[in-house]
Amino acid sequence: MTMTMDATAPDPAASRQVPWTPGSFALSHAWFPLVHLAELGRMPIRRMIHSQSYIIRRTGEGIVANRDSASGPAAPVIARYGFAWIWHGDPAEADDAFMPDIPFLPRDRLQPGYARDTNFFHCTYELVLENILDLTHIDFVHRNFSGPEDSDEDTVRFESTSETVTMIRTIRNKQTSDYQRDVLGITAPFQDQHVFTHVFIRSGVCFLHSHYSAAPSMPLMQSNTPESRFMTRASVVFGIQQCDSPAYRRAWPRTGPTVAAQDEAMLDPQNPRYLNDPGKADFSTRFDAAGLHFRSRYNALVERQKAGDFAYMPDYLDGNDVAEVLKVRRV
Ligand SMILES: [Fe+2]
Repeated sequence: MTMTMDATAPDPAASRQVPWTPGSFALSHAWFPLVHLAELGRMPIRRMIHSQSYIIRRTGEGIVANRDSASGPAAPVIARYGFAWIWHGDPAEADDAFMPDIPFLPRDRLQPGYARDTNFFHCTYELVLENILDLTHIDFVHRNFSGPEDSDEDTVRFESTSETVTMIRTIRNKQTSDYQRDVLGITAPFQDQHVFTHVFIRSGVCFLHSHYSAAPSMPLMQSNTPESRFMTRASVVFGIQQCDSPAYRRAWPRTGPTVAAQDEAMLDPQNPRYLNDPGKADFSTRFDAAGLHFRSRYNALVERQKAGDFAYMPDYLDGNDVAEVLKVRRV
């Protein structure tokens, strides 16, 4: 197996020296997809962003969100992509231009119930995003679904902007997984695979997608909302319109809780190590480059917000149109 990296600024070697204290700062001024619209009625729902309560409900006028209590200050809210999105930050700065563009989800329609779910990770959301950007964990933690790590070629490319980190992994001749062979009936013993992850640093929202040369696949959006330093709410919606197999459209979302439990088994023990002993430096290798980019970009956002600068840089737009990167059709 050969593994190659294609790096752009910032330099990951320099990033290795950057201190890393996840859960110590609450980034704000971002849209968070808090509630599946299908779950929202006139009965108020209480949800958290960075330990701040929001009360959300439908009224005769539309969807209303308030901070702290049902009579607290109003918070900006937008219904889109099947979610009620809440702006966490100064309401005067709320602008839907800062909402992620999700090319594989209908903007104004709900996906069917089987294509959405919610899981939880008992850790701060930065660790969830690092895990999602880790190019190797899939082969070990989710081996039954994605296949073992052996392949002829394994290339990882990553890009980042001030607000996003993207990882693209290309694998040649990877063994078909147990799930693909036994459940999906894929007979090809080896496949080429392209894996994409795209992460929005402020909110935790991410897109995940894989293309296999023989097996079906479909993209998903996962919210990774930081409820507190100890809890991440991961609401997911699958882009079923990208998949031509009706059986797979229904079968794959049902694996979500198992996949999430595999990640939770790793993440839950990590959290106290970071929160209780943040001074010790991590050991990283060059294969962690996407995660190190994430740490570097995350720290830069923290420093800007500590200094009172909550603005989005012009390069935000570069990380907000990923239909071509993900190789999906716009719906
Ligand atoms: Fe995972």
